[in-house]
Amino acid sequence: MTSAEISVRSSELYDRACRCLATGVSSSLRRHVTSPPLYIEHADGPYFFDEDGVCRADYTLGWGPLIVGSNHAGINAAVARQLKKGYTYGCQHTAEIELAELIVDSVPGIEQVIFSNTGTEAIQAAIRIARAHTGRDKILKFEGHYHGWLNNVLVSYRPKQDDSTLPQATCGGQPASEFADTLVLPWNDIEAVRQLFAERGPEIAGVLTEPILANSGSCMPKPGYLEELIALCREHNIVSIFDEVITGFRVALGGARELFDLQPDLSVYGKALAGGFTMSAVGGAAEMFEVLRDGRTIHSGTYNGTSLNIVAAIETIRELRKPGTYQRMEEHGQAVSDAILVAASKRDVPATISGVGSVFSVHLGVKTPPRNYREMLNSNMSLYGKFRQAMLQRGVQLLPDARWYVGTQHDDEVLARVIPVIEPSMKDATQ
Ligand SMILES: Cc1ncc(COP(=O)(O)O)c(C=O)c1O
Repeated sequence: MTSAEISVRSSELYDRACRCLATGVSSSLRRHVTSPPLYIEHADGPYFFDEDGVCRADYTLGWGPLIVGSNHAGINAAVARQLKKGYTYGCQHTAEIELAELIVDSVPGIEQVIFSNTGTEAIQAAIRIARAHTGRDKILKFEGHYHGWLNNVLVSYRPKQDDSTLPQATCGGQPASEFADTLVLPWNDIEAVRQLFAERGPEIAGVLTEPILANSGSCMPKPGYLEELIALCREHNIVSIFDEVITGFRVALGGARELFDLQPDLSVYGKALAGGFTMSAVGGAAEMFEVLRDGRTIHSGTYNGTSLNIVAAIETIRELRKPGTYQRMEEHGQAVSDAILVAASKRDVPATISGVGSVFSVHLGVKTPPRNYREMLNSNMSLYGKFRQAMLQRGVQLLPDARWYVGTQHDDEVLARVIPVIEPSMKDATQ
């Protein structure tokens, strides 16, 4: 059966949506995930149920946030309690202190935090703090890294492949003047950073990096790369910023800070922080927030610290702090990865996996894990697309970019459902 044949109701709904909702979807990337886009009727634990009544084990986790699954009893109860107490106050409340304390207690080197709603917003807050802190304007980012959809950072996300690293717009409507202060380099190349800092260090306020390049193939940092990046930043008084919107509370409770035992000046959190609710944060040493305390800059937002999102985040972190959580996610991801590699090998398809158990990417057609955006382009995405389609039809929902997200809800029952369909799906893909 084709996906169109099992998605009759989704097709009808998409046609209806296209008449009134521009593009038919609410975020551009969702347009091309499946054809038609799937309409989800409800989700429960690790499963998504679409409007055609098909149940799928979900490894998209809503593009990352659903780290403790859907319909989580603790989050439901906390949000239900809070619903009766007020949706948002525009004033202070004890839950925001509780969440701040929980984050400070969970993440190494975080002494203080600020709250906002989306990763995009929190990234902008971190950039502003870095600029106010240094009195400089330029920001360095890396090819293939995604830091939200605003013009100053949606730069060289999918750059054209020439030798130049000149900043490139990612889509229409991005005037070059809006990223005139953004510098771009290939990732995982410390010599390139050293050279840039030697030439232009005094102009640069901050460096933004995903600590694991989850948005482009889940590339891992070379040993020592992030450490040297932070050290070079310190040498040149540049603010180092880890964009942990994906890695935060996911690759370890303390995110990449804990996994790599590193403390950049600022870290940005979103997605898994609130288990599917709209919540983001910037954290760092207390001195980094002096620019807000002394009024050199501001951080504002009607919905910053909204009570429903805050209580959801508290419950999510409490769940994640339970013993064994991260090991179980790691083991689950490892078991799935192993099965994919075995299936690929049986079909004589070179394959490799990069990332960690809770977020990893499958690379078909290559044997060596990519180390940056350009290397990631060697993966055979058309073959992966066929594999993903075959998995979808066998009841497993996956993202189109070959990234898999694993959460605490992915238990042995889910594994028993997923492992047996990997080989036949790989067979379908390669026939
Ligand atoms: C690493 C990273 N940073 C920032 C963002 C932007 O977050 P949001 O979509 O919540 O604005 C994303 C979103 O995917 C992301 O992956």
